[in-house]
Amino acid sequence: MENVFMMDHPLIQHKISMLRDYQTGTNEFRKLVEEIAVLMGYEAFRDLPLREVEVRTPIESCRTPMISGKKLAVVPILRAGLGMVSGILTLVPSAKVGHIGLYRDPVTHEPKEYYCKLPEFIEQRVVTVVDPMLATGGSAEAAVNFIKEKGGKQIKFLCIIAAPEGLERLHRAHPDIQIYCGHLDRGLDENAYICPGLGDAGDRIFGTK
Ligand code: PRP
Ligand code: URA
Repeated sequence: MENVFMMDHPLIQHKISMLRDYQTGTNEFRKLVEEIAVLMGYEAFRDLPLREVEVRTPIESCRTPMISGKKLAVVPILRAGLGMVSGILTLVPSAKVGHIGLYRDPVTHEPKEYYCKLPEFIEQRVVTVVDPMLATGGSAEAAVNFIKEKGGKQIKFLCIIAAPEGLERLHRAHPDIQIYCGHLDRGLDENAYICPGLGDAGDRIFGTK
């Protein structure tokens, strides 16, 4: 699929396996989500444009590349997406941070919006939406709809685990955005949980039940 990227790096795969383990506690789970976000962000930002700048080293002046003036935004889907923000900011510390609050209706599994706030000039920014789980794809589709309604044009979506159903739905709804997946799992169960998955990402990051 064009614009869909599967992460095959051994470090990402190893850390995802640790995340899946039901015995992994909150503290370790949170650290792993952050580390995976760093590794995925490293791949996802491969296409950021560079420009040559003049720098004086202790030896001499030279022309050398730096990230061009592109404005960046990170937008976690609350709550679980919050766990990935610090990892992305490790790579691009000057990025602005927006928030999109969605929860899945327990019966219909469709997303319900409760909070949305994006940085200004969103139309000029590379917007990186983060959420560890892409299950039915309803939350991701709604988040990208919202960002586009506000003017967002260049959008990347990063998830740690995807179900085929969610990946297809998001790609069909928004073929123009780049989707990065840590791992593609088998599918969804009757409660729209990813199998084998890792359980409820928000609960595991925040230690709730
Ligand atoms: C989880 C997850 C995604 C969503 C994925 O959030 O973090 O946002 O489900 O499911 P979908 O692809 O079927 O929409 P949840 O609604 O459980 O909220 P939480 O992060 O606050 O726990
Ligand atoms: N949200 C989660 O946190 N986990 C799933 O498996 C599906 C949706």
